[in-house]
Amino acid sequence: MAGKPAAPRPPATPDLKTAADLAPVLPMTADVRDGHLFIGGVDTVKLAAEAGTALYVMDEAHIRNQLSEYVKWTRYHWKDVDVIYAGKAFLSVQMARIVADEGCSLLCASGGELAYALRADFPMERVQVHGNNKTDYELHECLEAGVGRIVVDSLYEMERLAAMAQEAGVEQSILIRITPGIEADTHDFIQTGQEDSKFGFGMAEGLAMRAIKRALELPGIDLAGLHMHIGSQIFALKSFSSAIEVIVHFMEDIRQETGYVVRELDTGGGLGIAYGLPDEPSTIKDYGKVIVDGIKEHVEEHGLPVPKIMVEPGRSIVANAGVTLYTVGSIKQIPNIRTYVAVDGGMSDNIRTSLYDAHYEALIANKADRPREMVVTVAGKHCESGDMVVRDAPLQVPESGDILCVCATGAYCQSMSSNYNKQVRPGVVFVKDGDWRWSVKRETYDDLMRNDVE
Ligand code: LLP
Repeated sequence: MAGKPAAPRPPATPDLKTAADLAPVLPMTADVRDGHLFIGGVDTVKLAAEAGTALYVMDEAHIRNQLSEYVKWTRYHWKDVDVIYAGKAFLSVQMARIVADEGCSLLCASGGELAYALRADFPMERVQVHGNNKTDYELHECLEAGVGRIVVDSLYEMERLAAMAQEAGVEQSILIRITPGIEADTHDFIQTGQEDSKFGFGMAEGLAMRAIKRALELPGIDLAGLHMHIGSQIFALKSFSSAIEVIVHFMEDIRQETGYVVRELDTGGGLGIAYGLPDEPSTIKDYGKVIVDGIKEHVEEHGLPVPKIMVEPGRSIVANAGVTLYTVGSIKQIPNIRTYVAVDGGMSDNIRTSLYDAHYEALIANKADRPREMVVTVAGKHCESGDMVVRDAPLQVPESGDILCVCATGAYCQSMSSNYNKQVRPGVVFVKDGDWRWSVKRETYDDLMRNDVE
């Protein structure tokens, strides 16, 4: 049941794989027709010619499928589960509307993300806002918008929020973020002291309990329950199980010390995805069982009622729904060292390779049925030697002008993009049933200088 962690990366060799072999990392509608990669029934080579590169392409069917899988496999085990999409992974107005349409809620990490929810007419009672240092301005925005939940991260924030809510004459529902002392990684879980996290309240030395008691006495806020988030790109489901065991135990401590019964429990996001072919993440089905049955089992042990359960997936909704298309420019062969294939993008549209040494699969969209006969390094166009998109990647023999597709870039690429070197950010298109449409237009030079004061 537990997902298999990514093995340490072996030295890359030409693996002779074609697009068909890359299905585990590609969007679910990907197929190959006449040697071209199609996504959502759209020829990506033609799309690159029409919309230009670099370009983020998102498969709407894949996104909807992931959202509905979460709804299905969490509610399969308990009726009262809310799937809250974490907008930080990728957010546009159309994305917010898709999330609403699938009956899911939206997690916002800032006033900016909340502004997207407002622009999309997202039902505000289904918006949850978190963050370890919300400004007064952001808290006001939340109250004014009437967001469903605010995840409170510190006593300083709790006091300010309660005062603001009272002044506004409202009672704001909150969750308190707990650091369960378990930090997950892709291989296993390690115990960490709560002192080591900038997020939430640790349970050591009674910090979390103090926060609960304060929330229960403060007017202006209504304590709905607890929140946690143990990490991201998690393969081992037992990391979640361990955290659930700890937090449900804490729910029992709360009842014993205060009489308060936690009504809602949010277990955060974090389910891992396949970036590379060796990755075998857990399924949403198994994840749903571990989370929901885990909570049910432990609350039963303590004689507590089953709370409303919330999960906050981000990456696993959008990562594999997206690819980035680039045009191959210069190809530099350094004998006995490596071949650099330079593209018309780089660390400005995908910082993850340089930031986390992330690995991606790549293919040439106009040679999708040919085997990956070479190993190359896909380099960006920025003035920085660490600006790589994919290091040591098996690839079809490239030529300048080819359309290069990097897989699984739907999460945390566009949302972490920048204008370094005054590079305009690529646009985002959604593909569906043979058609494409802009979700976010490509930036222009005027956009770059929009806020410049002459
Ligand atoms: N909930 C909370 C409170 C979070 O902080 C996050 C992500 C999520 C949910 C969604 O987690 P997911 O299902 O996407 O793992 N920039 C990094 C990822 C940072 C994740 C931050 N928090 C990356 O590119 O890998």
